[in-house]
Amino acid sequence: MRKLPILLCLALPLFADEPRLTFDNRPMGSIAKPLVLRSYLPDPGLEDSVFSQHDHARKVSKYNPGLGSDVPGEIQPVPGLAAAIGVNFGPSLSYVFDTTECRLLYTWQGGFVDMTPYWGDPDKGSRVSFDYVPRLVGTLFWQASGPDPIELDGKSIQQLGPRVFTGYRLENDTPIFEFATGSTRFTLSITPSNKPLSCDLTLTSSSAAALSWRGIDSPPATGKLTVTLVGSDLSKFQGYQRDNKITTASAAAGETLFNQYGCAACHSIDGSKSHGPSVGKLAGHPVEIEGLDQPVLADRAYLLESIKAPNAKIVKGYPPNYMPPFGLPEAEYDSLILYIQSLDKPE
Ligand code: HEC
Repeated sequence: MRKLPILLCLALPLFADEPRLTFDNRPMGSIAKPLVLRSYLPDPGLEDSVFSQHDHARKVSKYNPGLGSDVPGEIQPVPGLAAAIGVNFGPSLSYVFDTTECRLLYTWQGGFVDMTPYWGDPDKGSRVSFDYVPRLVGTLFWQASGPDPIELDGKSIQQLGPRVFTGYRLENDTPIFEFATGSTRFTLSITPSNKPLSCDLTLTSSSAAALSWRGIDSPPATGKLTVTLVGSDLSKFQGYQRDNKITTASAAAGETLFNQYGCAACHSIDGSKSHGPSVGKLAGHPVEIEGLDQPVLADRAYLLESIKAPNAKIVKGYPPNYMPPFGLPEAEYDSLILYIQSLDKPE
């Protein structure tokens, strides 16, 4: 029996037809019911200054649980964020909130995390390694830098003293984080926005001082501030890099890859609309493209371009910058294309 972290077991019931959380078969959250994950989370390269309240990837003293104290020697901590909470609303938004720093660390879109090293391959069932740190999947669009961006009367709350996390509650399944500096209490909730590469922030404070978020231009507010955090395409992540060892392309291999790479989270094969268009009955059919008068034929070249460089042609009615580009070995591209082509066999 594999050892599964208890929280993950409880949080992730397996419903076969739900979008996937990872490249294996855990479901993602949704806008109506976000998924809250308390686990190690990856560090996309945050600067040390963000971590004013804890040691960031620095060596720490060895601890002996038997003695209950530190012993001589140092260890390199796990290269992940330990006291963080990851939240996923499906492909529209994921973020990490750090409970030690009491601040939003980073936000991304298009996927969530890939825990393959820890969970192992669903087909083979064994763990790849004791690698607890999941890999990001999707487009990183904002990350924290400098002092805490929450300001009272124009001053970062970091200057007001230590920030203390007091917990989070769920309101309509959406987490609301609660923390304090001195006697001032704050709450923060982060939700998907309808603008691209952005999210909405709702911040409250118990203080009468003007509340603002550094870098976001908005009229000063007292008690409650609602703003949109607009980011930009910082980098793309495709999860755990695996070596599939596919030497001969085939539709069967393509089907496996389609699930493994999370394509199925955004594309149905039965014609139904999802985050992306269905890839059933796509191959060989005309596709309406944004900005083009004439439809384009979904031939091999079109399918290849759609996977390699999704922004080259945007299917009418769908957002740009939503599908991450996939850089894959040739045999994997070919397999995915053969699979998509196999979905349009005449009955
Ligand atoms: C996060 C969601 C997401 C993921 C993951 C994703 N796609 Fe997409 N895909 C989209 C969206 C949205 C579009 C439409 C916009 C565009 O043209 O880029 C699209 C477009 C496409 C198209 C063109 C469809 C058409 O009707 O012309 C193909 C083919 C495609 N994706 C294949 C794939 C494959 C194969 C994978 C996995 C390797 C994948 N996608 C992963 C969201 C996604």
